[in-house]
Amino acid sequence: MSDKHNESTNEQPILTTRQGHPVYDNQNLRTVGDRGPSTLENYQFLEKISHFDRERVPERVVHARGTGAHGYFEAYGSVGDQPISKFTRAKLFQEKGKRTPVFIRFSTVIHGGHSPETLRDPRGFAVKFYTEDGNWDLVGNNLKVFFIRDAIKFPDFIHAFKPDPVTNRQDPNRQFDFVSQTPEAMHTITWLFSPWGIPADYRHMEGSGVNTYKWVNAQGEAVLVKYHWVPAQGVKNLTQEQANAIQGKNFNHATQDLYDAIERGEYPSWELRVQIMSDGEHPELDFDPLDDTKLWPEDQFPMLPVGKMTLDKNPANFFAEVEQAAFGTGVLVDGLDFSDDKMLQGRTFSYSDTQRHRVGTNYLQLPINHPKTHVATNQRDGNMAYYVDGIDSGENPHVNYEPSLQSGLVESPRAGVEHSPEVSGKLVRQAIDRKNPYKQAGERYRSFEDWERDELVSNLVTALKSCIPAIQERMVYHLSQCDADYGQRVASGIGISVKTEAVAGD
Ligand code: HEM
Repeated sequence: MSDKHNESTNEQPILTTRQGHPVYDNQNLRTVGDRGPSTLENYQFLEKISHFDRERVPERVVHARGTGAHGYFEAYGSVGDQPISKFTRAKLFQEKGKRTPVFIRFSTVIHGGHSPETLRDPRGFAVKFYTEDGNWDLVGNNLKVFFIRDAIKFPDFIHAFKPDPVTNRQDPNRQFDFVSQTPEAMHTITWLFSPWGIPADYRHMEGSGVNTYKWVNAQGEAVLVKYHWVPAQGVKNLTQEQANAIQGKNFNHATQDLYDAIERGEYPSWELRVQIMSDGEHPELDFDPLDDTKLWPEDQFPMLPVGKMTLDKNPANFFAEVEQAAFGTGVLVDGLDFSDDKMLQGRTFSYSDTQRHRVGTNYLQLPINHPKTHVATNQRDGNMAYYVDGIDSGENPHVNYEPSLQSGLVESPRAGVEHSPEVSGKLVRQAIDRKNPYKQAGERYRSFEDWERDELVSNLVTALKSCIPAIQERMVYHLSQCDADYGQRVASGIGISVKTEAVAGD
C-alpha cells in the first residue's frame, strides 16, 4: 500500500502501466526491506524510468525553438480582382469562403529548444494546410529574403551562425567570417541587423515563402509565384535595448503572447498575398526571379490577396503537436508546383530527410502530420509503424503492391493537364548570372526610417567590433557598395577607414 494514499473520492481514472496493469503504489520502489536494496524485476519502475530516459527526440537541427497553433484558412476565390482559376487549379483557393484547416509553427532559427525568444534571428513561419487533396506545407520565414541562394552552402552558413564548437558561444567573428565572403547575404543582413531582425512577437510579424514556386491552371499553364503573409495585427519590431529589457524578465514572451491571445479569444489572423510573374527567365530584370536573396519590386509585381488565415486553437500537447510537426517544401498539392530554384530543390530533399531521422520513418502516421483525407499506400512496416495505411478503406491486406490482378490500390485519374516545362542545358557547377548583390540592400538601407537606420548601424558596429580586421574591412567594403553612407557610418563606428578596392568574394 502506498504511504501517500490517494484521498480523492470522486471518480478519477486509475493509473496503469503501458501494459494496462493497475498501479497501486506509485511512490515506492519494490525493495528488500524498507531500506533497500531494490530488485531488478520491478517492471512498473523499469517501464516508467526507461520511458522517461527516452522522452526527448533530437531537436530540429535549425528552428528548434518554436511554438504552434491550429486554425483555418479561408479562400477569397480570387487573386486580386481576377478569378484564381486563371492561374491555379489548387482546390483550396477556388471558392470564396472555403475553409481549410491549418497548423502553424513559428520559430527562431539558430539556438536550442528553450533559447530566448528575443534573439536577433529570422523567425520561421511554417503553415500546414490539410486540404482535400492532401497536405500543402508553406515553409517560410518572417523576412522575405534569405542569406544564400544555393542549397550546398546551407550547412556552412548554419555552422557559422551556431555556437562555436569549442566555446559553445555564438561568435560574430565566425558569423561575419562567412558573411563577409558572401556578398549576396548583404540584403538579408541589412534586414536582420535592423529592428526587423527582432520581431516583437509572433502575432506582429509578416511571413513569406521566400523561394519562388509555380501555380498551374487547368490547361497546364504555369506562372511563377511568391507567397506573403500580412498580419491583421500590424507589424511590431524591437530595438536591441527593448529586446534586452524583455529578455531580462521573460525569455518565453513570444510563446506566451500567442498562447494567451488565443486563450483570451483574440484570434490572430494573416492575409495571404501573392506576387505573380510569367514563367521564364525575365532577362529584362536586374535580378533572377529564382534568386531568393531578392525581392520582387511591388510596383511591378503587386501583392494580390488570395485568402486569410486565422489561428483559434492552442495545441492540447506541445510535444505531440508542435515538436512532432514536420513541414517540408516538397509537400505540394495539385495546382501548385516547384520552380527551378536550386535552393528550393535542396530544401525539398533536406526536410523529409531530417524528419525521418528526427521523428522517425513513420512520421507521417502521426496525427499532426497525417492528412485529413484519404490515405492509402503500399508503404509498410519500419520503426513505430502504428497502423497499416489504407486498411480502413477496405484494402486487401494480402496485396501490398501495385499493379495486381486480384485487388489492391489503383492509380488515381490525372487531376488535370500536366505542366511539362522543357529543360535543357549543360551540366555545370556555376553561380547564377545576375548576381547584383548590393542594389536591393542599398535601397533597403535608404528606405528605412532614421531610427531603424541608426539601429542597423549600431547593431552592426557592435557585432563587427569583435571581428578581426580582415573581416571588418571586407564587411565595410560590401556595405559601402550597397550605399556609401552605410559603409561610411559602419566604418567610423568600428574606427576604420573604407577601402575602395574590390575584395575577394565580391
Ligand atoms: C537550402 C536551404 C535550407 C535548408 C537545407 C533547410 C533545412 C532545414 C531543416 C533540415 C530544417 C529542420 C526541419 C525539421 O527538423 O523538421 C529546417 C527547418 C525550417 N526551415 Fe529551413 N532550410 C533551408 C532554408 C530555409 C529557408 C530559405 C527558409 C525560409 C523560407 C526556411 C524555413 C524553415 C522553417 C520555418 C523551418 C522550421 C519548420 C518547423 O517549424 O518545423 N529554411 N530547415
